[in-house]
Amino acid sequence: MKPLTDLAQAIITAPGFDPARFDAEQFANALDAGLIDELYATTEGEILARRTNRLELFFPDETIPSPAPGMPIFYARHLYPRHLEFFRAGATHIERLFQAGNRVGKTVAGSYECACHATGRYPHWWAGRQFPWANHGWAAGDTNETTRDIIQKELFGEVTWEAGRKAFDGTGMIPKDAIISATWKRGVDGLADVVKVKHVSGGTSTIGLKSYDQGRRVFQGTAKHWIWLDEEPPADVYGEALIRLMTTKGLMLITFTPLLGLSDVVLSFLEAESAARETNR
Ligand SMILES: Nc1ncnc2c1ncn2[C@@H]1O[C@H](COP(=O)(O)OP(=O)(O)OP(=O)(O)O)[C@@H](O)[C@H]1O
Ligand SMILES: [Mg+2]
Repeated sequence: MKPLTDLAQAIITAPGFDPARFDAEQFANALDAGLIDELYATTEGEILARRTNRLELFFPDETIPSPAPGMPIFYARHLYPRHLEFFRAGATHIERLFQAGNRVGKTVAGSYECACHATGRYPHWWAGRQFPWANHGWAAGDTNETTRDIIQKELFGEVTWEAGRKAFDGTGMIPKDAIISATWKRGVDGLADVVKVKHVSGGTSTIGLKSYDQGRRVFQGTAKHWIWLDEEPPADVYGEALIRLMTTKGLMLITFTPLLGLSDVVLSFLEAESAARETNR
């Protein structure tokens, strides 16, 4: 943005500058084509770099105003004490539930933690569990469509075409430069099956996308290091998913607004909480 702000500054401080008489079109026509190229080259490059590395922007020390058109304000992390508590609890708990109201940032919390694990790019303030090596996780939602439109978009951005192949534009939580490749599910347009992600250790992490409506059986398979469930899971899916974490002592992250009342999964967390309160008395 520097060249543009310099330019704006130069215009408004020029002798005789009169905002009432300033003609933007005439001004733009008078600009040198080379200068325009230079201005756009820098700003477009910078904007793209910000759009494709959201992981570095979320939960900053101080609030960052919207860093590029269409990007949100990134609020200082001290404004999100419950999010930080949720992350921190990963250091000591296998199962975590972030049960909260609509639009408070549950999906951001889940995708942020998954992106940290898969890439190994933990922020300096991270107090939760860390995986020093490449790891394997699942992210799951209700249906293939909601998994694609919410979870996949939040993690990897939009599906585009690159060199004749389907790819992600990297505008989600996983930085573009960490996305290696994806395989795609059959029968659901634009939903990835497994995405390979570069881990800082030099290894390759994987993130598989799943949905509950495919049934408990799709949650069978090999061990996982972490599983993120972004909607309330049916009890049988939850049980099956938990088994995948047993050998790795992996992490279960659940983020949702309770819509199903006191379901088995919600109850199991509430019971554990009251049992912990009893023992702490
Ligand atoms: N830490 C944050 N900094 C800046 N913006 C945020 C942050 N967390 C969430 N947001 C923004 O707030 C909006 C809601 O976030 P998100 O989708 O994560 O909420 P949610 O609780 O999952 O909502 P829903 O109830 O619809 O599932 C999004 O536009 C998101 O980009
Ligand atoms: Mg959400």
